[in-house]
Amino acid sequence: MRRRILTLFVASAAVAALAVPAAAQDAGSPPPQTQIVGGSIAPAGSYGWTAALIRRGASRTSGFRCGAVVLSRSWVLTAGHCVLDYDDDYPDSVYGNYVAPSFLDVLTSTQSLSSGGQRLQVAAIYPHPSYNIATSDYDVALLRIARPTSAAEIAVIGTSGSEKALDDPGTTAIVSGWGTTSYRGPISTSLRYVGVPIQSDATCGSSYYPGFTDNGELLEYHASNMLCAGPMGGGRDSCQGDSGGPLAVQAPDTSWRLVGTVSFGLGCAQPNYPGVYQRLTATTSWIGNTRRFGPFNPDGLAYVARQYLDFVGRNPTPSEAATWINHLRSNPAADIITSLQASSAWDGNAGMNTRLYRAAFLRNPDTSGLDFWVRQRWGGRGPVSIANHFTASSEFKAKYGSLSTNDFVTRIYQNVFNRDPDSGGRTYWVNKLNRGIGRGQMLYELSNSSEYRRKTDTSVRIITTRFGLLRTVPSAGEITASEAISQRTLIDTLRTSQRYANRFNG
Ligand code: ARG
Repeated sequence: MRRRILTLFVASAAVAALAVPAAAQDAGSPPPQTQIVGGSIAPAGSYGWTAALIRRGASRTSGFRCGAVVLSRSWVLTAGHCVLDYDDDYPDSVYGNYVAPSFLDVLTSTQSLSSGGQRLQVAAIYPHPSYNIATSDYDVALLRIARPTSAAEIAVIGTSGSEKALDDPGTTAIVSGWGTTSYRGPISTSLRYVGVPIQSDATCGSSYYPGFTDNGELLEYHASNMLCAGPMGGGRDSCQGDSGGPLAVQAPDTSWRLVGTVSFGLGCAQPNYPGVYQRLTATTSWIGNTRRFGPFNPDGLAYVARQYLDFVGRNPTPSEAATWINHLRSNPAADIITSLQASSAWDGNAGMNTRLYRAAFLRNPDTSGLDFWVRQRWGGRGPVSIANHFTASSEFKAKYGSLSTNDFVTRIYQNVFNRDPDSGGRTYWVNKLNRGIGRGQMLYELSNSSEYRRKTDTSVRIITTRFGLLRTVPSAGEITASEAISQRTLIDTLRTSQRYANRFNG
């Protein structure tokens, strides 16, 4: 027998024959409401984090299965029951198993089920480890998408005191989706939303009391991981097809928080039966842990390997990989980037090259130049050899003309220390240059002095951090903006950015 919480399945776009389980046919329920139920079409640009789960290969309307929520460039949240094979209609169908990721797409960045937006393949499905099909406990699943979405994202409610207050009873939350506009009615091709008041645990628990069933299906409210929302008089609710979609509240500062995902209810919009949602404060840390490596698998291996490739120029050894994976289990994901960015390997490459650019040309490196010299350094070319190339370059000649040895020494002192050389310094370098050391030797040594490193430390850190993660150098404005934030925040901002996701699966 099919379960009451059956995922929506539209057999034909025209008829919209929903595979609504038999359990729902309760006699004595009020006539169906019209409208998500009781809501309105979402204004353009609103609730942009609302996504849909579509069966791969099917049309967007006939394949529409569930709602979903965009949490980041690579991660989408939905309901656990939305990734279960209830309908026996997948190629490798085993009733009740989790669906293979290759049978699902996520539709994002559109308010229309039928046009626009991005249809993205699901790369991996992570159901909550405590999801219980029989009780609907922890009815959530994370999806990692194969290409980054450009949709708006919504922050999951946090666990601090002020965050926890955001889903207090009495708060009006917004649920959005393309689900049916009445119980057993048609889906909506335009995104709809409706405001629903969050009810107290006592109220939810007396509606969906222990042992309450509907045609043999358990409909119990479990306050530890559920919340319910909707007016006790009925009329406004989520409905079939909204499952997995967002229940969102606006914080006092007007930013939005995801407090729940659509899970179940008795019918839709019936008096005394508010919709039941997963309470996301119960899963905040599972969500955070699972999605912490952005576009990479939560096991951390690909994430760690990527950082070694970007900052060290090679794969990690098995022991380096194991050490970091272990460290990152209980520490911030940014740690490995913080450490490798500051390592002598990266400082002696991207840092060294950046200082050469500034000392030779009084400018920051451009992306293609830095990329070229970073690869040269990894290829075994030494700093002095690179510096010799800089002092002999056409840019150097164009900027300063052909310099005598004496004028060269003055120029480098000016560029690096903003002063003329003292007489001892001048004699020392002129003699060395006359005895045949290359000009690059002097450029490298002065640009590598502790005085110059101190002076350039902040810009070099910002440039080499951004280049390390995005393979692009920051603009002047981006450098200024980065000066105002901590290195940890800078790293987290870059590694969760659209550009970063685009590097690997754009
Ligand atoms: N289980 C339904 C689905 O798969 C969602 C039911 C929500 N019901 C409600 N009354 N709020 O789409």
